Amino acid sequence: MSPQAELMADRFVVSEIGFRLLTSIVRQYSGICVGDDKRQLLINRLRRRVVELNLSSIDDYGRYVSADASGVEIETLVDLMTTNHTGFFREAEHFSLVFDLLVPKMRSMMSAEEPFRLWSSASASGEEPYTLAMVAAEAARRQPGLKFSILASDISRRMIEVARRGLYSMQSVEVVPKDFLHRYFERGVGPQEGRCRLRRAVRESVLFQRINLLDREYPVGHRQHVIFCRNVMIYFDVDTRRAVVERLLSHLHPSGYLVVGYSESLLGLIPGLQSVHHGIYTRS
Ligand SMILES: C[S@@+](CC[C@H](N)C(=O)[O-])C[C@H]1O[C@@H](n2cnc3c(N)ncnc32)[C@H](O)[C@@H]1O
Repeated sequence: MSPQAELMADRFVVSEIGFRLLTSIVRQYSGICVGDDKRQLLINRLRRRVVELNLSSIDDYGRYVSADASGVEIETLVDLMTTNHTGFFREAEHFSLVFDLLVPKMRSMMSAEEPFRLWSSASASGEEPYTLAMVAAEAARRQPGLKFSILASDISRRMIEVARRGLYSMQSVEVVPKDFLHRYFERGVGPQEGRCRLRRAVRESVLFQRINLLDREYPVGHRQHVIFCRNVMIYFDVDTRRAVVERLLSHLHPSGYLVVGYSESLLGLIPGLQSVHHGIYTRS
């Protein structure tokens, strides 16, 4: 190995202390636990940032993040370490259950003027809240007078910006039913050629806001009828999960529903929480 290659190899390893420091910052700020088996993943995700900042090693980056009193670099670190994987109609049964079963059920308890409030609380690049928005628009087409209010939030400002743009690859919309594509998307033109964009009305029907689920309070005014918190709590330890669920429940309508990912379970986490369908919970 050439001396330069050796130097580069040193730059992209992480010491035990460096690994502990970086993972504890991520955990403290976002709740995300990065396991010991994710050492290489951490290196791969931070490599580019180390080069961008012209630092000498990943350990050096740990010191850099700790010294940054503004907190901006912590956000960048967390952003680099989070998984933003999502998709339109991901875990699709949830959307049909919510709109075909739960909305009609709760509707009978609500006044006619009250909008049905839905919150996607780890919305990543927006596919989940936009799926909610499209299915809600369909429900409103079938039942004029039915109103929805859709809130979407994520810890990542970058993801919120991506989501607000509402611009997606043709591949990512392959799962969207053809009539939805026709009704709710437009083809990208000029520099957006080959992509498609949610129509303005759909984009504007979702309110995007940055919320860290670890914050003590969430700036959410009204009680929500359905809260989606899917595929994020898998990265939290059990105490964090419990605290987040308790806070989410404090923003949930008393007869509302909390929806988590197919592979997540809240059973036994909080007394008085009852599973009504796969990944869907309500207070008993
Ligand atoms: C795997 S994506 C899930 C997206 C979507 N809910 C789904 O199921 O397709 C997880 C998202 O959770 C966000 N996230 C991670 N920690 C968070 C926290 N403490 N507060 C809010 N969002 C967080 C990440 O930024 C990421 O966009």
